[in-house]
Amino acid sequence: MKEMPHLDNTPSTPGKFKMEKPAYIHHHHRLRWHSTPLAKLTFWSCIFLGLIFMFFLRSSPSSSSSSTTFSSSTAGISDTTRRSLRTFSWGGPLWEKRVRNSARVRAPNGFSVLVTGASGFVGTHVSAALKRRGDGVLGFDNFNDYYDPSLKRARQALLERSGVFIVEGDINDEALLKKLFEVVAFTHVMHLAAQAGVRYAMQNPGSYVHSNIAGFVNLLEICKSANPQPAIVWASSSSVYGLNTKVPFSEKDRTDQPASLYAATKKAGEEIAHTYNHIYGLSLTGLRFFTVYGPWGRPDMAYFFFTKDILKGKSIPIFEAANHGTVARDFTYIDDIVKGCLGALDTAEKSTGSGGKKRGPAQLRVFNLGNTSPVPVSDLVSILERLLKVKAKRMMMKLPRNGDVQYTHANISYAQRELGYKPTTDLQTGLKKFVRWYLNYYKPGGKKSDV
Ligand SMILES: *[C@@H]1O[C@H](CO)[C@@H](O)[C@H](O)[C@H]1NC(C)=O
Repeated sequence: MKEMPHLDNTPSTPGKFKMEKPAYIHHHHRLRWHSTPLAKLTFWSCIFLGLIFMFFLRSSPSSSSSSTTFSSSTAGISDTTRRSLRTFSWGGPLWEKRVRNSARVRAPNGFSVLVTGASGFVGTHVSAALKRRGDGVLGFDNFNDYYDPSLKRARQALLERSGVFIVEGDINDEALLKKLFEVVAFTHVMHLAAQAGVRYAMQNPGSYVHSNIAGFVNLLEICKSANPQPAIVWASSSSVYGLNTKVPFSEKDRTDQPASLYAATKKAGEEIAHTYNHIYGLSLTGLRFFTVYGPWGRPDMAYFFFTKDILKGKSIPIFEAANHGTVARDFTYIDDIVKGCLGALDTAEKSTGSGGKKRGPAQLRVFNLGNTSPVPVSDLVSILERLLKVKAKRMMMKLPRNGDVQYTHANISYAQRELGYKPTTDLQTGLKKFVRWYLNYYKPGGKKSDV
């Protein structure tokens, strides 16, 4: 596995145009080519045209995304936003056919769902679950390299086998999203695309603004104009509770003290959701996920890289709060989260607007999806030691004040009542499944595990 994360300065959608140098391509032929004046002229013309082409690519956004309308007042942000829209190719009758097939509903009264972030951890599991029960599912993802993209490609391959096509694109790409809504009348959008991670925000703040704010607004703009308007379920985060110390966290608690830019952009998303619900009658449900883990998980999360480092014999940092205070997380197993997501989709009411106009009040909800049983991070490590049969080299460290909070604990009674949400997997059981997947996926010649 590649070392991660990539702490570069490009936003979530890498604007790095990986181009071959034209001179290199012709390298072998250069000697022969240089033998006649005409060949010489042709050769240098090619170089010149190549350079013009490169300049063009760098200075203008891709044609499919030229309609990016987010001229944010801070030029810096709009610049990075534009630069980071990678050129994705899409369109054509074959492409449309794949889109239509993937989104085709097979069960009576099934949904047609656009899943953004479909090659992500939660996105893959939710897409697979929807497809299994006969809903139409179209995936959407930019496959950025915030963490090892080959893991995303492996998840994509898995979804492809179950009939889910993932469109490659950026949620900031207005033209592409508009096109998808022209091809398919989505009944629901499951919006899971986001820039995740708490500490990475210090390396690449623009990426959080780009995906979690600008991208979300772009998606909502498309949804509000769509006819019919879809109902939207989207991923908020338990991190919105920030410095709140009252536990368990319930949806009515204050969320105006975020401890990281990530949390702030998710909180902003909740306010933006309120606006689109209020103005356009969009049905919106936000889900505050609590430390989701499991097979096909995210390599930037502690349980994942602890596993990797314990196996390598590398020491792992375990945070403790002031006065040796315990740092604990309400770890929530992926299958429980998937049930919560499906419950949210199933209970989502229709949006009430049409053609960009509100016709009546619409549903607006926010739910905690946690496990209601916080586990100290040191216990997590002990469980991993037992499962891996390797002793961990623990390195106790003070919890840095750059985003991570000491404790998370969800009150899930609201989700229980409204969504029938009831987590059933404890950390020991869930980690056992994760470790089994991990060892199989990363064994030499592996990478063929199933969900
Ligand atoms: C959990 O939240 C509900 C509201 O959804 C509230 O009535 C209840 O008192 C909360 N429980 C605790 C233990 O805070």
